[in-house]
Amino acid sequence: MANIFSFCVFIVLSSLCFSKAQHVKVYELKRGYFSAKFTNYGATMLSVILPDKTGKLDDVVLGYDLVNDYKNDTTYFGAIVGRVANRIGGAKFILNGVTYKTDANDGKNTLHGGSKGFSDVIWTVKSYKKHSHVTFSYESFDGEEGFPGNLSVSVTYMLLHKNKLAVKMMAKPLNKPTPVNLALHTYWNLGGHNSGDIMSHTLKLFGSKITPVDSELIPTGEIVPVRKTPYDFRRPREIGSKFDQLPHGYDINYVLHKSRRSRHLRKVAVVVESKCGRKMELWTNMPGVQFYTSNMLKNEKGKNGTVYGKHAGFCLETQGFPDAVNHPNFPSQIVKPRGIYKHFMVYRFTAH
Ligand SMILES: *[C@@H]1O[C@H](CO)[C@@H](O)[C@H](O)[C@H]1NC(C)=O
Ligand SMILES: *[C@@H]1O[C@H](CO)[C@@H](O)[C@H](O)[C@H]1NC(C)=O
Ligand SMILES: *[C@@H]1O[C@H](CO)[C@@H](O)[C@H](O)[C@H]1NC(C)=O
Repeated sequence: MANIFSFCVFIVLSSLCFSKAQHVKVYELKRGYFSAKFTNYGATMLSVILPDKTGKLDDVVLGYDLVNDYKNDTTYFGAIVGRVANRIGGAKFILNGVTYKTDANDGKNTLHGGSKGFSDVIWTVKSYKKHSHVTFSYESFDGEEGFPGNLSVSVTYMLLHKNKLAVKMMAKPLNKPTPVNLALHTYWNLGGHNSGDIMSHTLKLFGSKITPVDSELIPTGEIVPVRKTPYDFRRPREIGSKFDQLPHGYDINYVLHKSRRSRHLRKVAVVVESKCGRKMELWTNMPGVQFYTSNMLKNEKGKNGTVYGKHAGFCLETQGFPDAVNHPNFPSQIVKPRGIYKHFMVYRFTAH
């Protein structure tokens, strides 16, 4: 009897564990007027619903209606990207004398961790409380998409006060040093996901330098001032106001100003959509932010029949510098066993 009983318990527990690991679901965080939805597929941010200055609620995040639509998408809508976000030039790097070849999914380069990066795996739901937080975790294995060593990863989305959302990303290498560079790839449109393009949003970005790229969007290794270039957003101005001086819009890493007090987060940006009055502020502990104006979006069929065209959203992906594994002058992204990677983001949303 005892044996049959424990066998049944084993079956029930293992099927529970199995279903917990495999099922893709939607998790909502809600407090007052603020609500947001997430899924354990790619640890993805699905929606953020905010009041405008009149109290009208809109979803300000681009995405799809169904979680299944996020599988095989090429936009990375709302996903956590990794193990190494952004591009790795030539899909390879050398670490401690060993050459690692990563999956080349963007021409001959690696983009956002390879063709099955963290944005395309099912995460485990570790903890969920509707009024406070949801935590997803993922165990990345040695050699996954070419990266060295096992890596334990977690992402927590957390409501703070009534209008703040915090994101905490952590990663622990278990047996080998590895590069880690996670990023949240949300496409925002503060007028509402279906309100057209983001050209008239006003942006202030707290970076005086960028890391220029070549024709394949791989950093050249230079770090240059934005002064007197269309990249200068140190004073707030409309995102579209200098598009005529750029070939495709923005897709570039900014070097963020250091916070005056070293333990404090750095301010990244303030974005305002003046018609609806919504304002988004962002802080991080990361040294860089990729500013992207969805230049590659092309008639993407999204939520509620909306077709997202070019520049329908903007991304502010806080992270380390792109291709840092191949540029010794960029801040290192190598994390050693017993070390820990911690990435914080704090958003504050208001409307006036
Ligand atoms: C996604 O792509 C994989 C392989 O490329 C395929 O096996 C799978 O069916 C696709 N999933 C969806 C939902 O299209
Ligand atoms: C690494 O992960 C594999 C499974 O993916 C496991 O078998 C192995 O024991 C892990 N090694 C360490 C040191 O965690
Ligand atoms: C979906 O679109 C219809 C019309 O296009 C609109 O009336 C409705 O409010 C939209 N629903 C949501 C949830 O945005």
